Amino acid sequence: IKRIGVLTSGGDAPGMNAAIRATVRAGFYYNLEMYGIYRGYEGMIGNEIKKLETKHIYHVLERGGTFLKSARSEEFKTAEGRKKAYENLTKHGIDALVIIGGDGSLTGAHLFYNEYGIPSIGIPGTIDNDLAGTDLTIGFDTACNTAIQAIDKIRDTATSHDRLFFVEVMGRDAGFIAINAGIGSAAAATLIPEKKMPIERLVERLKARTAQMKQSNIVIVAEGGKSGGAVEIADKIKKQLPYYDIKVTILGHLQRGGAPSALDRVLASKLGVAAVEGLIQGKYDVMAGIINNKIVYTPIAKAIVGHKDVDEDDFRVAKILST
Ligand code: F6P
Repeated sequence: IKRIGVLTSGGDAPGMNAAIRATVRAGFYYNLEMYGIYRGYEGMIGNEIKKLETKHIYHVLERGGTFLKSARSEEFKTAEGRKKAYENLTKHGIDALVIIGGDGSLTGAHLFYNEYGIPSIGIPGTIDNDLAGTDLTIGFDTACNTAIQAIDKIRDTATSHDRLFFVEVMGRDAGFIAINAGIGSAAAATLIPEKKMPIERLVERLKARTAQMKQSNIVIVAEGGKSGGAVEIADKIKKQLPYYDIKVTILGHLQRGGAPSALDRVLASKLGVAAVEGLIQGKYDVMAGIINNKIVYTPIAKAIVGHKDVDEDDFRVAKILST
């Protein structure tokens, strides 16, 4: 391997810059040439590829977003798009790839490796934390911190007005951000896609809390919940709790921005180095992750298919603490 191309793809996540920096620095350490592929697979198809130098990675570790930019590419899903992408890599003499992204981006990497055989390795970068093969994905910790800080602020106003708030958090079809935000912000209930909570049970719980004179009630709703998002749940529940003034807040893309937490910076830095070392050691079509504080390389096919579910214990803790 002589020339590694690095890209970020899919939804951005705080810590992606730190992962790019670590990948590039590790590449330089091992005397490799490093190329930035801008806007993910879109840029691979559109030939937005530039040689990276040390100056490109100054002061990026601490910044949110991704300086390489990101995109969700429809064209890369087509054989024609992937062919164009491969031709561009060949033009630049890129003989290996580091792909930083979530399950969609790693699915693309797996497909591309199987078609063209270009040595490639994935780094889990998504706020959703829904990849197997790593305890945490880059961006998840920062997103949880952001959500919890926002919910603390909502609690101030909820308490002042004795209001019931439904706060919707991201996570696509996974409840990791929701369950952590729920535990970390003393939510009255947390609704996650992995567990069905009948509306009647939620109503009972909120009624019980009213009887206990709880000053404020915050219900966390994961966006991919089976009974709908925060707006739908609030609507369904309104009639059964007429004495409550109900409000809804959707945290949305706020959760994707901001400076990465210490944990995300360190995780991203370790995985950037692990990705380059993995390629050098001939570990291809795998994702670098950390399990029990040890670097592990999991076949991408397993990391994306083995979609993690929220831990039963976490769900139990959230339940115990909200009753
Ligand atoms: O995968 C990250 C994520 O932020 C999900 O939590 C969310 O469902 C989705 O991306 C939003 O995607 P977009 O920014 O394309 O609307």
